[in-house]
Amino acid sequence: MSTDPTAAPDDANGNTEPESDKRLYPRVTSYRTRTGVLKPSRQGAWERMWDEIGRNVDDDIIDVEAWFGRRAPLVVEIGCGTGTATAEMAMAEPNVNLIAIDVYKPGLAKLLQLIEQNNITNIRVIRGDAVAILENMLAPGSVDGFRVFFPDPWPKTRHHKRRLLKPEMFTLMATRLRPRGVVHVATDHAEYAQYIEESGNSAPLLGIVTGPWPMSSERPETKFEGRAARIGNAISDFAWERITE
Ligand SMILES: C[S@@+](CC[C@H](N)C(=O)[O-])C[C@H]1O[C@@H](n2cnc3c(N)ncnc32)[C@H](O)[C@@H]1O
Repeated sequence: MSTDPTAAPDDANGNTEPESDKRLYPRVTSYRTRTGVLKPSRQGAWERMWDEIGRNVDDDIIDVEAWFGRRAPLVVEIGCGTGTATAEMAMAEPNVNLIAIDVYKPGLAKLLQLIEQNNITNIRVIRGDAVAILENMLAPGSVDGFRVFFPDPWPKTRHHKRRLLKPEMFTLMATRLRPRGVVHVATDHAEYAQYIEESGNSAPLLGIVTGPWPMSSERPETKFEGRAARIGNAISDFAWERITE
């Protein structure tokens, strides 16, 4: 398996696409390939922190309690970006174990800096495609809450297939949630909001939230939310609960 977490993975049959085909038919992903070059200050944080609290996507189920060194409700944030909201939420909820996922190395390096500067102990970081991470690394029924804040909207019709949040992703998140676990989503894109709502409502294992949230429903302003507010976009928040069977 490739050691580059952003590389196109093998197909469902384990066949690796020939290089020529990869160029002709690049794998559809919900993220752009961006440079992973770090500023020196972030490079330093990466070198000091990564081995202790970070890992790349792989095929092994995580022993979450061992990784955090304690048992606590587990919240997974998908697409944390530079992690400013992640760090703030972790400090506001010291009783929660928080896993932050992104493919974007400079963003994760910024989060590592915030963790180091603020002595935050309840965040762990995974770099790679969230779909593969949920499928391979998170045990079914092991997650108390998911957060997906301001996922890339991919507004052009021909790019809609790249969207992270679609019916299959809600089904995948639902299988990883424990009963009554919650998915919290926010977006500032009106048309994507409608699609997200329909997709979440169509997931057979998800329903309206009936119980108390396992994590805070409050959301600090993220970088993308600030930008949305400045151009006057309305923000939509959604939540679903994993139904009991
Ligand atoms: C628009 S940004 C939002 C970042 C942050 N949540 C915020 O509100 O500031 C979306 C982030 O999702 C990440 N992302 C998109 N698809 C992903 C995937 N399949 N796996 C992991 N991260 C992904 C991107 O790299 C990007 O950092």
